[in-house]
Order: sequence, then C-alpha cells, then structure tokens
Amino acid sequence: MNSNQYPLFISKNITQSDKKINTNNFYRNNLEKKYTPIIEENLKIGSLVSYQGNKNLPILRLFRYKEAFSYQFVKDFFNKYGITPKDYVFDPFCGMGTTLFTSCVSGIQSIGIDRLPTGVFISETLPKILTIQPNTITEIYEQAKLLLENAAEAQVAEDVRIMKIAFPPKNLTELKQWKTIIQNLENPYKEIIDLLYLSVIEPASFTAKDGQFLRYLPNREVATPTELLDRKVKELEQDLLNLKTLAWDRNVLLPKVCQGDTRDLSSISFEKEPTFILTSPPYANRYDYTRSYSLELCFNFIQNFDELKALRFGILRSHIEAKEHEGDSSVHEALTEILQNLEEKNQIKKLNNNRIPIMLIAYFVDMQKVIKEWYRVCAKNATVVMVVDNVRFEGEHVPVDLILSDLAEQAGFEVEKIIVARYKGNSSQQMGKYGRFPVRESITIWRKK
Ligand SMILES: C[S@@+](CC[C@H](N)C(=O)[O-])C[C@H]1O[C@@H](n2cnc3c(N)ncnc32)[C@H](O)[C@@H]1O
Repeated sequence: MNSNQYPLFISKNITQSDKKINTNNFYRNNLEKKYTPIIEENLKIGSLVSYQGNKNLPILRLFRYKEAFSYQFVKDFFNKYGITPKDYVFDPFCGMGTTLFTSCVSGIQSIGIDRLPTGVFISETLPKILTIQPNTITEIYEQAKLLLENAAEAQVAEDVRIMKIAFPPKNLTELKQWKTIIQNLENPYKEIIDLLYLSVIEPASFTAKDGQFLRYLPNREVATPTELLDRKVKELEQDLLNLKTLAWDRNVLLPKVCQGDTRDLSSISFEKEPTFILTSPPYANRYDYTRSYSLELCFNFIQNFDELKALRFGILRSHIEAKEHEGDSSVHEALTEILQNLEEKNQIKKLNNNRIPIMLIAYFVDMQKVIKEWYRVCAKNATVVMVVDNVRFEGEHVPVDLILSDLAEQAGFEVEKIIVARYKGNSSQQMGKYGRFPVRESITIWRKK
C-alpha cells in the first residue's frame, strides 16, 4: 500500500525535499495534512449512508432508489444538529426525497430540487401516501384492474434503444395499458398508483440497475406488471398499518419539490433562507442517472430519445458523456496535479477512457458553482451536511471530499468536520492493477459563517 495515497493522519510537515521526491502527490498530501485535524472516522454510520437502511421501512421501501441514503441517517443528523420545526431544510440533490420525507414526518418544513423528473415525482408522491386512508388504494386499484383487458396502449418513448429489448412483448403491452388506466385516475390516488407502477418497471424487465449501467439480463425470469403491482399494493397497505415505525406524529407537512438545476438556484423560490442542507450529490464516478433510470423516464417523463439526451446533458457532469463547456479548467491545484499525472500515464500507456480528465474538470467546475449557490441562498450559520465518495482512476486517488471542502472554504464556509463513514474497495480491474486499498466515503460538514 502506498501510504502517500491514503494518509488519514499525517504527522510530518511537508518540506521541499518531500516535494522533490514525491511531486505527484504533493498537493493532495497538503490537503490531507490541512484537514487531518478535523477528519474523524465513524464507520458505524457506514450502513446508514446507503439505501439498504430503507429496505424495511414503511413507504420509503416502496421505490428502490439505489443511490439514496437512509431515513435513519437523516434522523440522526437532525438530532445531532438540533434541527426543529423552526428550521428550513433544503436538499438540492433530493433524489427520491429521503431528506424531505424525514423532514415531513418530523414536522419540519423542507424544499428539494432534482434535475430529473423521476426524482421530483417520487419525492413529491411518497409523503402524500401519509395522507390516505387504509384500503382506498386497494379498492381503486382493483376497480382499475377490471379495465385492463380492453385498455388502449399509451404512448411511451419507444425510440430509445433499450426500450426495444428491455421487456417481454406481453409485459411492454401491459405496461402501456396500465399507463392509460392510471392517467384516468384522480389525484392523489393517480400519483400514488403511478409511483407503484414506476417501481415495477425494472422488475418487469430484463434489466437491472447495476453501478454505472443498466445491465441487460435477457435470460431473467420476469413476472407480469400486474402480478408485481398486486404485490406492491399489498406492501403499501401493510405500510399504512405500520407507520408507527417512523415515529411519526401524524402531522403532514408536505415538502416543496422543484425540478431544477442546483448549479443555478435563481429561479427557485424559497419560503425563507434554508438553515440546514442535508444532501448527497452525484459522485465523480461516471454514474449516469439518465441511463439507470432510462426505462422509468421513457414510460412517464419523456416523449423521445431527444428529450432523454437533453436530460443527459443537463445533469451535473459526473459521467463520461458530459460535454465540455467553454472556459472549463481545473478549479483546484490538487485536481491539476491529478490531471497532470493522468496525462503522464496516458503518454506511457493510453488511459482506459480518455474522457475521464474532461469529466473530472467538468465535475469540479459544476460543484464549485453548486457550492457558491448554496452559500448565496443559505441563512447565516446554516449547516451543510453532504455525503460524497472519493474515487480513483488509473491508480490516481481523487480526494473529492477534501477538494470540495477546500472549494467550500473558498466560497466562505467554515469546514467543521469530515466524517469517514466507509472505506470502499475498487473495481476488480483496478484492484488487480494497483492493489487493494480503500477509498473514503465521507460526510463533509460545513457552516456558513
Ligand atoms: C446521490 S443522488 C441523491 C439521493 C438522495 N440523497 C436520496 O436519498 O434519494 C443525486 C441526485 O442528484 C440529481 N442531480 C443530478 N444533477 C443535478 C443537478 N444539476 N441539479 C439537481 N439535481 C441533480 C440526480 O438526478 C440524483 O437524483
């Protein structure tokens, strides 16, 4: 293991001779050294920063949003920072809305933003389930089911390539018929049954969300959409009887959810200045949300491939197809060092993917904008809690947590703490090449001075 890559605690001062011997880690070592006094490990949080924590929770388990963190994680941080109904909570990358849902059941006003309509819809709809009476969804669903046989097939974005191979033909037809039926229901039942419908699209298909890709599994046995919906409706009814698990006081303070771009918050109307941000951005790990959620997007939110592409190029640039913008350049010396090292490696042997450096520049340019926007809109003394993964490409460690914290400091935040929640391995390909050494998943905590 190369100790220069992962010094959680460096005691030594960096000298000129270190700089000469080890030029290619110099700025990252400096960053580690700067933040070592405020880095602490709390590996008990590790299981809470993933969706696993929501798997058995009423309502939150209904839609599997793999990139979410857990209800308990949000609860714990609300407690830790004394968040009460006097606060105004903001999740600028709200995903399925875990922060917003937890705020809702805690009687705290909240606002969330996501660039993708899937996230906005799920975030808006999950809390509405709290407002309905047991058995109403079952009744409406059973009546709707009687219409299935003769229902017309709704339009979906069938020009997107994956749609042509993702389903057994019978399932595709049935899903299109269900779409027609759901469109004719009334709210909030329409939205709630629509959410259950969205949640069965993947299991009714030959695909599985898997890391960066939507994996194609043509030999998988799949149930019909109606069988899957039957089960989902039962789950929802059980959940309505189990709400006490959430320690909910029966107040429903629905969150405000906006489809927007966190890089520019000028069009978002906040009720007041947010006092607490609890969020997790896309990681710089090539993950493309418009690919993982392409089926859900094709059924409910886009008309055609052009609209899918527009979303793909409109999200935060954390994936390799992201386009460069004029004037993009490195926003941090540690990033410049990484880029130089990658370039040197590229001269010796071509990089596996030559778009990685472009993506890294774009990612940090975007995140710098995001951080400046958060600083602008937040109340004085607001706290920002952000879960983020470090990454490694071609053996080059990218300390995303520290670079973003340094950018936050430049924007005016005080970096209070960095909690290491987990160490992650790497892809088997990279492990073979560079040896197994872990990458931090961190929670950065910043305060607006
Ligand atoms: C890690 S996920 C957040 C998951 C969330 N913490 C939860 O519990 O569901 C990151 C989210 O950022 C969204 N996103 C990507 N680019 C964005 C942008 N420019 N503005 C706002 N949201 C964006 C993605 O669609 C995704 O839902």
